[in-house]
Amino acid sequence: MTDTQTAAQRIAQLRSELDAHNHRYYVLDEPSVPDAEYDRLFRELQALEAEHPELVSIDSPTQRVGGAAASAFGEVRHEVPMLSLGNAFLEQDLLDFDRRVREGLADLLPAGDLFGGGAEVEYSCEPKLDGLAVSLLYENGQLVRGATRGDGTTGEDISANVRTVRNIPLRLQGEGWPAVLEVRGEVFMSKAGFEALNQRQAEAGAKTFANPRNAAAGSLRQLDPKITASRPLELCAYGFGRVEGGSLPDTQVGILEAFKSWGVPVSRELKRVQGVGGCQAYYADIGARRDSLAYEIDGVVFKVNRIDFQRELGFRAREPRWAVAHKFPAREELTELLDVEFQVGRTGAVTPVARLKPVQVAGVTVSNATLHNMDEVARLGLMIGDTVIIRRAGDVIPQVMQVVTERRPADARPVHVPEHCPVCGSLVERTQLVKRAKGRESVSEGAIYRCVGRLFCQAQLKQSIIHFVSRRAMDIDGLGDKIVEQLVDKGLVKSPADLYRLRYEQVIELEGFAELSTQNLLNAIADSRKPSLARFIYALGIPDVGEETAKLLARALGSLQRIQKALPEVLTYLPDVGGEVAYEIHNFFADEHNRKVIAELLDAEHGVHLQEEGEVAAEFAACATLPGFIDKLNIPFIAATGAEKLASRFGSLEGIIRADWLDLRQVDRLPERAAKSLREFFDAAGNAERALAIEAQLREFGMHWASEKKVAEGLPLAGQTWVLTGTLEAMSRDVAKEHLESLGAKVAGSVSAKTHCVVAGPGAGSKLTKAQELSVPVMDEEGLLKLLAGYGIGA
Ligand code: IVH
Repeated sequence: MTDTQTAAQRIAQLRSELDAHNHRYYVLDEPSVPDAEYDRLFRELQALEAEHPELVSIDSPTQRVGGAAASAFGEVRHEVPMLSLGNAFLEQDLLDFDRRVREGLADLLPAGDLFGGGAEVEYSCEPKLDGLAVSLLYENGQLVRGATRGDGTTGEDISANVRTVRNIPLRLQGEGWPAVLEVRGEVFMSKAGFEALNQRQAEAGAKTFANPRNAAAGSLRQLDPKITASRPLELCAYGFGRVEGGSLPDTQVGILEAFKSWGVPVSRELKRVQGVGGCQAYYADIGARRDSLAYEIDGVVFKVNRIDFQRELGFRAREPRWAVAHKFPAREELTELLDVEFQVGRTGAVTPVARLKPVQVAGVTVSNATLHNMDEVARLGLMIGDTVIIRRAGDVIPQVMQVVTERRPADARPVHVPEHCPVCGSLVERTQLVKRAKGRESVSEGAIYRCVGRLFCQAQLKQSIIHFVSRRAMDIDGLGDKIVEQLVDKGLVKSPADLYRLRYEQVIELEGFAELSTQNLLNAIADSRKPSLARFIYALGIPDVGEETAKLLARALGSLQRIQKALPEVLTYLPDVGGEVAYEIHNFFADEHNRKVIAELLDAEHGVHLQEEGEVAAEFAACATLPGFIDKLNIPFIAATGAEKLASRFGSLEGIIRADWLDLRQVDRLPERAAKSLREFFDAAGNAERALAIEAQLREFGMHWASEKKVAEGLPLAGQTWVLTGTLEAMSRDVAKEHLESLGAKVAGSVSAKTHCVVAGPGAGSKLTKAQELSVPVMDEEGLLKLLAGYGIGA
């Protein structure tokens, strides 16, 4: 075969591949290869065509601007074509661009100096946003049409959709705009908007998007503008098309500033610089801030600032000679998935990790990527042997974004979770998600698989100990990962409690230990024996319980004993503790193995002594209300208002449970089906008992049903502890207690120096004596009635 024949074949192959990619990118909004790969193929084709000009044809992808318009929308002809930009990948490409510009403007620029240096050109610098190019036509200041770029000459009419983009003005503000003004810009999605959208999509079981660009394109090209409206899209204007009946400023920067004054959003990063040196500095500056920008950019765009210079330079095929896109290193690359291995973490989670054929992504060699969990593997449809798109952004762990299904080899293998733990051989089980809703417990399959080996599993044991001793947990200085590994490998530490049993003779035997270091380590361990409750809870490594949640648990419930026995529903009264976390906490403490480990740790002789244990926090105690509680029970057809009505009518949970059909029907405007549903709920086995058990625990923890959600601090008796003793006549002790609690007081069973007041009725005994000994104020029932009356509470 001749050289030309080989070239012709390769050219044909490249063209059909690029056409397919263009179709997926522009029409389906579902590219199957990263931009970097597209760019490589494109450049290869450009180079071949440059070598063989006889093989260039007008339908080559190098001769076109973009994709064809998808058919579902009306067509729009761009009177001024919407063009593309040439790319500069290397610094040299940028220097070449600048040189061509200066050569092109040689006659217009001031003469160069004696050393051959020419005059510098002024450039406008803008970030290159990664979204979808749009044209917005304003007539007499009114937005009359929105269109996509399409193939550059014909785009799609997306007027209805662009109107839903919140920062696109429907009417231009200020003055001085031309009667006909076509604004061009990029519609994009911020990183945060993209994450939120994908999360919503995933929750709804709908398709998620590979990146913000696809999400923006897919959202803007929805046939139903209501969908577009629900998507977090934004516009950033960067140029213009038609201008009639008026004129624009004579520089690019001036034009964008004018846009801004008319209410058209432009980039905050817009900057005017002198010469290519200014461009280089801008590229470096934006590059350094790339990760902290709110949106994705794939480069920066430099444009000759003076519009008359732009006219002079003109266009070449598909690109202006006066502008260039200086690309950043690609964050997405193609590579091959060699294998999937499974790692065992601290909580026993068996996580799939992708082993990749090493590939350079944004300047770093990547050979592993996280796969999160098996749901993710399923979502990606991943098979071993697949070609995959890897993404690495900033210092985030590389991720597998997508499978290139077209390139799947015939011998690709599915990914299976091992039945046995790769470290300890124990069984691997799929986690169950237990949810209680509408009075029923439902169990569903979780995404996580766990090794059931617990601390018998060396992987879990090591990770648990590493976490246990870490700075924010028990803070044992000098107990690094390597030492933990030695301790575990030598069998000296089989559970965290063993740390406190380590002896001098054992430690000094370890690699790298001498007398002083041994003593230091033993001292550090001994020093950690008095942790705060919060540190201890965090150190236990309860799944989903980070430092903040641990602090919250400690502060709200005050003691390990209460935290250990708290029912999940009670835990959900804590701010930021949702149902799933509450179940994790509850299950952790219900687990026999964990209980044993904790008991060993708290062993009086060797173990830790918790500090700062105390009472239930006042604000936690005050956050429960009876209507809120009924609402929490999730009874079908009983929402917040129904709950309010029931609470005010029956006054107590027991009252509501006891209420029969007739009682319920008398509740003002409580719908029949709500009444029915309530009865069914409490008649169903276990529900009434469970509700009462939760209520009992809330009471035990010092919570009280205030009639409204009040913060204890704002209540008159907040922070006070009262004790009731002897018999009361006008009301039962329980009722008196409820009244006091509704005023913010805590009612305790025994008298101490901290007791604020004791209410003593006839027959009071030891509690009254104790109060007198401690000089705690005492009042009789009459005094209590007066006090209550003072707050509008009658007997
Ligand atoms: S100017 C004739 N400026 O990049 C000049 N384009 O690769 C046409 N883009 O189609 C474009 N940010 O979708 C320009 N500041 C910017 C841009 C920008 C993003 C997109 C635009 C264009 C594509 C060209």
